[in-house]
Amino acid sequence: MSVFRTKAVGGEREDTGLRRCLTTADLIFLGIGGIIGAGIFVLTGVAAALDAGPAIVLSFIISGLACAFTALSYAELSAAVGGCGSAYGYAYAGLGEIIAWIVGWDLILEYGVATAAVAIGWSGYVRDALTSVGIHLPLALTRVNIYAIAAWFLDLIHRPVPALIAAKASTGGFINLPAAAVILLLSLVLAAGVRQSAAFNGLMVFVKLAVIALFIGVACFHVTPGNWHPFMPFGWPGVMRGAALIFFAYIGFDAVSTAAEETQNPQRSLPIGIIVSLVVCTAIYIVVSGLLTLIVPYFTLDTASPVARSMLILGHPVVALMIGIGAIVGLTSVMLVLFYGLTRIFLAMSRDGLLPDAFAAVNIRTKTPVRVILLCGFIMALIAGLTPIGYVAELVNIGTLAAFTIVCAGVLVMRYTKPDMVRPFRAPGSPVVPVLGMGFCLYLMLSLPLITWLRFLVWFVIGMAVYVFYGHGHSRLATTRHPRS
Ligand code: ALA
Repeated sequence: MSVFRTKAVGGEREDTGLRRCLTTADLIFLGIGGIIGAGIFVLTGVAAALDAGPAIVLSFIISGLACAFTALSYAELSAAVGGCGSAYGYAYAGLGEIIAWIVGWDLILEYGVATAAVAIGWSGYVRDALTSVGIHLPLALTRVNIYAIAAWFLDLIHRPVPALIAAKASTGGFINLPAAAVILLLSLVLAAGVRQSAAFNGLMVFVKLAVIALFIGVACFHVTPGNWHPFMPFGWPGVMRGAALIFFAYIGFDAVSTAAEETQNPQRSLPIGIIVSLVVCTAIYIVVSGLLTLIVPYFTLDTASPVARSMLILGHPVVALMIGIGAIVGLTSVMLVLFYGLTRIFLAMSRDGLLPDAFAAVNIRTKTPVRVILLCGFIMALIAGLTPIGYVAELVNIGTLAAFTIVCAGVLVMRYTKPDMVRPFRAPGSPVVPVLGMGFCLYLMLSLPLITWLRFLVWFVIGMAVYVFYGHGHSRLATTRHPRS
């Protein structure tokens, strides 16, 4: 494979080997492509039915505020610091290597696990859509049931299978082939080029926005105000639990900042792309979640496809089918954008020597980091195909919230340590805005369950081990400290 060696860049226009072709409109579409997906099409139902009730609309506003304050901070740093490493790069520039590593490790969790988890949701939607037109994919090949695998293994080693495991194994499920396959296909799209990826994403964004418009249009004729009584059946704690869960719906606007080195005019386009895509999606979420709980009772929404289900309940099977197709397309664009962001952050970390240097290469023909794309695609396909991690939204949320908190802190620190840095965009109202961003993000983190904190701690400890045994000794900074002769 012919490669172009890259070098670390800041906000300057150095030749990184990546193709600098994205416009402001591409970035807005990238943001919308990454944001609207499983959060609204899948998680809203559970969050409304079990946590917030009709007050899910408040949950969306609270999470949206956390993201709005953070987005302003992202906008400032993306325009001033630049680089495809996003929050990792800003932390590197302002807070030092170890904090940068922690942020980068968090972002790998955010983008990598979210992509794999969304692929599992996507697979479920595709299976249901095919079933509705009479095509039945075998269950054994479309989901992972750890009980079925355990029963198979016990049988293999001639051990008796406990009755409980046998009962839970009876529905089968060994591998989620569609989930793995879609990730591998997206690897090919991303490897082909950023222009091709942006065009594909734009098409998908158009379809999902059309489907959402259809839902809003139909739902307006079925509003039943009585469905908002009681409005807050689980009280304020329920609203906050809902906010911490559906925060997942907003993840993706930050991926816009990873396009810094592929954007024609990054200092202008990045702040616009980040802020506009977030504002559009927040407005959509508030309208859709409000309507959803106004047209059907909130407790009927405890399903994997609440938006389509509401249309079925109201007697609109064709609209429900179209929403199902829109959801499949929406989830595909989310995977594409998060996967894209993951590869650019991985690239930035490899350039700095915190991950193997072999991945800091860009293909000279496609101008994409093909090695990183294939490696990440392979690992995520394995995770999506072989593990039952469909329900890890909260783990992704806590990692993202931690990274967001550090970005807001980065704005404050760099205003103090680098007051003369050129800032094409300044977050208005600083220091209030970054402080509010930190406050909201920490409040949402504290609203997550203890088990999520424990899982996050495990991820953090693994990350620190990788840093101690690899990154610390191989980084560019280490090479400067101890030059190899
Ligand atoms: N925000 C993205 C989604 O909801 C991750 O699927």
